Amino acid sequence: WLAPAGVLLLGYLLGSIPFGLLLTRFFGAGDLRQIGSGNIGATNVLRTGRKGLAAATLLLDLAKGAAAVWIAGALVPGGGILGGLAAFIGHCYPVWLRFNGGKGVATMMGVVLALHWPSAIVFAVVWLGLLAILRISSLAGMSAAISAPVSAAFFGRIELVLMLLALAMIVLWKHRANIDRLLNGTEPRIGKKSG
Ligand code: G3P
Repeated sequence: WLAPAGVLLLGYLLGSIPFGLLLTRFFGAGDLRQIGSGNIGATNVLRTGRKGLAAATLLLDLAKGAAAVWIAGALVPGGGILGGLAAFIGHCYPVWLRFNGGKGVATMMGVVLALHWPSAIVFAVVWLGLLAILRISSLAGMSAAISAPVSAAFFGRIELVLMLLALAMIVLWKHRANIDRLLNGTEPRIGKKSG
């Protein structure tokens, strides 16, 4: 049991690194918690006006999810799913931020990429496609998250479906304030000032 527990802890610690918060603080872009939605993800970093920092946040949040799967898989045969799950939970509920973390979309994409890249391609197409058309980050991200268990089932990767379904449910739960705003028509669009 020691190896799976170690993989869970390592994945959690890796996932709990709040790159958005660290980068914006380090580069003097203000306190993310006081800006826009208050979230620590790339979308909210973009609201500081620092596109480079937003891109770096997106890539690093994605990379930590993928890295957790790969490292866990290398340490424990078949441990990738566990490592990815732990990293995702670490991102959404980091102990350092009193368990008040991000909304999970970028980290989930990284986990999906490392577990089953064809599903990650579908994820990216849904995410970026809807983002380009609607310019609403939350709606695009939630749709992409839901696409992952559907893709895994479609491609016959049944062992991934339940885990990806759980991740997608957490993504939706974390977006509950966004869902309220979407329903009453006040969710801001990317590139617009309010938010
Ligand atoms: O991944 C986060 C995004 O879906 C929503 O971010 O800041 O608009 O709540 P935000």
